[in-house]
Amino acid sequence: MKTFVLLGFLCIIFIDTHAQLTDAGKTAIVNAHNKLRSTLAQGKYNISGDIRRAATNMKMIGWNDDLARDAYRSIYQCPANIGRPNPAETGANIRVVDAVGTQGPDEYAKEAVAFWEKQFQDKGWPVNNTVANLAAQGLAEATQMAFSLTGAMGCGVQKCGSKVATVCYYKFPLKNDYLIYEMGTVCSSCPDFHVCNQPTGLCTYQQVGK
Ligand SMILES: *[C@@H]1O[C@H](CO)[C@@H](O)[C@H](O)[C@H]1NC(C)=O
Ligand SMILES: *[C@@H]1O[C@H](CO)[C@@H](O)[C@H](O)[C@H]1NC(C)=O
Repeated sequence: MKTFVLLGFLCIIFIDTHAQLTDAGKTAIVNAHNKLRSTLAQGKYNISGDIRRAATNMKMIGWNDDLARDAYRSIYQCPANIGRPNPAETGANIRVVDAVGTQGPDEYAKEAVAFWEKQFQDKGWPVNNTVANLAAQGLAEATQMAFSLTGAMGCGVQKCGSKVATVCYYKFPLKNDYLIYEMGTVCSSCPDFHVCNQPTGLCTYQQVGK
């Protein structure tokens, strides 16, 4: 009994102290998402000459430690198949690559994010600007990065033998048949409790008076 308690305790320590991504790494990951979202929001995102229209309601994304912990928990024991969270509650982007030399967790995570975003550059914008059939279009991960209503994310990285897994969790998740974002005047329709951040064109969370 005592052994189990001790093991459980060590396990918690392990999870917390091996969350691995540095603060600089977390910032870089969030910034990469917000750069994409800001460029879209301002009507400047260019896919081979297809300039996407501005967004009325694009939220700024922030880092969330609970999502990062849950993402890490999905991989820290090196499962043969990485489980996904309930898709109605939490979105997940997953990338597994071969381990490369002494590359650290920050680098794997940044590379994963760049890889996901590149789906737009390679495959174009989703049909009808809609969350539908994204996997078939090869656009599921990029679209999760760009989904207007997603405001929080967190990632974990784990080396398993010769492989390294990066998993990022998102809230809100992609919701079927929702628009990826509303097109129109930038920031003109920020969600409740959000105000426009003019320099980025993103809607930032702010608890305002009723
Ligand atoms: C968009 O990208 C294409 C190349 O893919 C380039 O030719 C074009 O000049 C770009 N447009 C703008 C407005 O940057
Ligand atoms: C896109 O919109 C058109 C017109 O509303 C519709 O017929 C078509 O099924 C839609 N395609 C997808 C993939 O949702």
